Amino acid sequence: MKTLYFITSNKGKVVEVKNKFSNLGINIVQKNLGYPEIQAAELEKVAFFGAEHVQKKFNHLFILEDAGLFISALNGFPGVYSSYVFHTIGCKGILRLMSDFGDDNSRRAVFRSVFAYVEPDKKPLLFQGECYGRIALEERGGHGFGYDPIFIPDGETRTFAEMGTSEKNKFSHRGKSLEKLIDFFKKQ
Ligand code: IMP
Repeated sequence: MKTLYFITSNKGKVVEVKNKFSNLGINIVQKNLGYPEIQAAELEKVAFFGAEHVQKKFNHLFILEDAGLFISALNGFPGVYSSYVFHTIGCKGILRLMSDFGDDNSRRAVFRSVFAYVEPDKKPLLFQGECYGRIALEERGGHGFGYDPIFIPDGETRTFAEMGTSEKNKFSHRGKSLEKLIDFFKKQ
């Protein structure tokens, strides 16, 4: 069975990736190597730089991901700063920033995911996915991680945190980027 390392410290992401790769004959193994997340305006640049950094010291097949939540009313904030903002003001802080916006189109947001897939000595390949939705009025649900309790994908009334892993994967930014990565794998 082929092993694909997933470079991340986020156990929630690992659960989602393993769920997506189950039945594909690929063993996903988490590796918490750590890498610099550069200050850049696009997730692609952050993922690509991180991938090249890891590639220099880790001579195996691996993936890593950069993701972010972009809120229209806040001009795309927290976006590429999603991790820092989550660890400082968290979901509650985002809800406070959104307190002037009612339950209508003004709460629109998009989650984006970019995976870098890396083979030794080859240029990293990028796979993107996005999921449009809105910011909930309050935190709901106990599943998932990060901003899941405040994000409702289009076509749903529940937040990501009110869904199980397989269901979130059907809608989510990560589910979609992984779908592209899996298609690529199947063609190889
Ligand atoms: P990272 O830099 O890709 O690890 O993610 C940036 C931030 O966005 C982290 O604080 C995560 O908690 C959050 N995040 C990323 N993906 C998701 C998701 O699928 N659901 C909720 N929060 C997420």
